[in-house]
Amino acid sequence: MATNKAVRLSWFGGLEALQIDPVAIPQVQDDEVLVRVAAASINPVDYKTRDGKFPPVTEDKLPLILGRDLAGTIEALGTRAHSMLSKGDPIFAHIGFDRGAQSEFVIVKAVELVAAPTSIDLVHAGAVPLAGMTAWQGLFDHGGLVEGQRVLIHGGAGGVGHLAIQFAKAKGATVFATAGVADLDFVRDLGADTAIDYKNERFEEVATQIDVVFDLVGGAVQDRSWSVLREGGIQVSTLAPPDPDRAAEHKVRAAPHWMAEPNAAQLGEIAALIDAGKVKVVVSDTFALDRVRDAYERAESGHVRGKVVLTFEAAG
Ligand SMILES: NC(=O)c1ccc[n+]([C@@H]2O[C@H](COP(=O)([O-])OP(=O)(O)OC[C@H]3O[C@@H](n4cnc5c(N)ncnc54)[C@H](OP(=O)(O)O)[C@@H]3O)[C@@H](O)[C@H]2O)c1
Repeated sequence: MATNKAVRLSWFGGLEALQIDPVAIPQVQDDEVLVRVAAASINPVDYKTRDGKFPPVTEDKLPLILGRDLAGTIEALGTRAHSMLSKGDPIFAHIGFDRGAQSEFVIVKAVELVAAPTSIDLVHAGAVPLAGMTAWQGLFDHGGLVEGQRVLIHGGAGGVGHLAIQFAKAKGATVFATAGVADLDFVRDLGADTAIDYKNERFEEVATQIDVVFDLVGGAVQDRSWSVLREGGIQVSTLAPPDPDRAAEHKVRAAPHWMAEPNAAQLGEIAALIDAGKVKVVVSDTFALDRVRDAYERAESGHVRGKVVLTFEAAG
C-alpha cells in the first residue's frame, strides 16, 4: 500500500484543473473502514465543483479530492467498525462532503456503506450510489410517490433518470419519461409506460393528471411542468427549487430545496432491487484513472445514457 493516487482539485477551472496527485493513504479510525476503490462515478456535482459553481465548495476548501460515490473492497477496519464487516468485502457507498471518492483508497464511514450487489461487477456498482440516492430520495422522500400514482420524469435517460424510471416502476407507479429521440426505446426498455421525445413533442400534451413531476433538467422545462400536475400534485427538482408561488397558482405543491444524502438503508434496498433483477444499472463509458479528463469531458457533455465511471487498478 505505498501509493494513493487521487483526482485532486487545487484551483477552480476546466479540465486542466483535474490533477492526479499522490496523497497520503488516510488512517482508519473508530467506525470507519478504508476502501480500496475499484470504481467511482462522475456526477454533475463533480464538474460543477471543479468549475467553482457548486456554492458549498468555496476556494478556502481547496485542495480537495473530487467524487461522491464509489465501489470497492474493504482494505482495513477501524476498531469500532461493524463486526459483520471483514477485509476484502465488496461494498458500495455514497460518501459525505468531507471526503472525495475519486481516489485509490478512501475512508468510508460504516453508516455510509452496504454490501455491493452480487449480480453486477464493481464498475457497475460504482455507478449507483449518488444517482441512486438522488432518484430514491427525490421520488419517495420528497415526492411522496406511492403505488398507483403517475410520475413524469424529465431527463429519463441520464444517470439519475434511468434509475428513477426503474424505481418508480418497481413501486407500481405509471411512468412518463422525457428523453432525446435516440433514447426513447432505451427509456421504454427501462419500464417507462410513455416515452416522450423532448425535442419534437410537447410533454404537456402527452403527460396529464400527474401526481409527481421529477425535474432533472430545470429551466423552462420546470416552469412548463406546472400544468401537467393534478390538483395537490408536487414538483420535485434536483436543480433550482420550484417556485412555491407558481405552485400555489396551480393548486399544486413545490418541494423545497434538498440535496441527496448518504443513506445506507436506502442503498441496501437498491442493492436488493438490482439483485432481484428489477433494476438495471447502465454504464455508457468507463475510463481508467489516467484518463480522468476524458471521463469528465464525456460526462459533462450532458448527453450521456446512464453513467460515466472512472476505474482504478483494483477493478482488474
Ligand atoms: N440535488 C442533488 O442532490 C442532485 C443529485 C444528483 C444530480 N443532481 C442534478 O440533477 C441533474 C441530472 O443529473 P444526472 O446525473 O442525471 O445528469 P446527466 O446524466 O448528465 O443527464 C443527462 C441526460 O439528460 C438528458 N436531457 C438533457 N436535456 C433534456 C431535456 N430538455 N429533456 C429531457 N432530457 C434532457 C440528456 O439527454 P440528451 O442526450 O438527449 O441530451 C441525457 O440523457 C444535474 O443537473 C445534476 O446536477 C442534483
